[in-house]
Amino acid sequence: MTAEIIDGKKIAEKIINDLKSKVKNLKEKPGLALVLVGNNPASEIYVNFKEKDSKEVGLYCERFNLDKDINEMDLLKLVNDLNQKTNIHGILVQLPLPKQIDANLIIDSILPHKDVDGFTPLNLGNLVSENTILAPATARAVLYLIESTGMEIKGKNAVVVGRSNTVGKPTAMMLLEKNATVTICHSKTKNLAEHTKKADILVVACGKPRLVTKDMVKQGSVVIDVGINREGGKLIGDVDFESVKEVAGYITPVPGGVGPMTRAMLLQNTLKAMELAKR
Ligand code: GUN
Repeated sequence: MTAEIIDGKKIAEKIINDLKSKVKNLKEKPGLALVLVGNNPASEIYVNFKEKDSKEVGLYCERFNLDKDINEMDLLKLVNDLNQKTNIHGILVQLPLPKQIDANLIIDSILPHKDVDGFTPLNLGNLVSENTILAPATARAVLYLIESTGMEIKGKNAVVVGRSNTVGKPTAMMLLEKNATVTICHSKTKNLAEHTKKADILVVACGKPRLVTKDMVKQGSVVIDVGINREGGKLIGDVDFESVKEVAGYITPVPGGVGPMTRAMLLQNTLKAMELAKR
């Protein structure tokens, strides 16, 4: 059996087209502030994409490129100013931040209803209490892609490899909310394959190129690869796509899987943030 490839790019295009027509009919444009500190090449690429997507959909976008040596107080001041601006509905501070800055302090200073990343304690906490308002874009992308296969999540064994606050933990919470039996694995997990082999749904977000191989995957499972690793100018995932597609039922490619969907979910969150501002 060869897995069906989940075409994240195509699914995202449809979402983006829907958003375009929605935004066209709005009197006020949703406003997104993108804050980039320093010149981490990967972060620059991500923010470039986010800016391009926002403009394509018709959002009002303000981008701030800040010096890598900026101090915490100045960055806090910028976030506070953006919190006050009525034409800015969403604020995204690209991570990682330089080491002189406490990233938690900066994220915590974003007003929760403008937190389009869903990273503030209130928004992450709301995931736990099943009162989701703004959820992290990548976790939303993962859930959307699983549901696009038509597989029912309820009662399934879901294994998430990776426990980051930005991807692994929120994804696990959202799968739990959908009544999956969830296991979170991480770098200290013993016998990783023992867990992954039981997964009907396997989400891999640990940043280790080709960590998951064919022998670690259950026949017919849904495999979602969140990894983006650069190897010799090529992007590769955390899943060994070529071997795993021989056993999985569905699999996302890298690139063209979770990445474009995450971008689409961020735009959706920005529209939602504007609706929240009107409440
Ligand atoms: N760095 C890598 N992914 C993300 C993301 O989704 N949001 C932010 N703010 N920074 C990131």
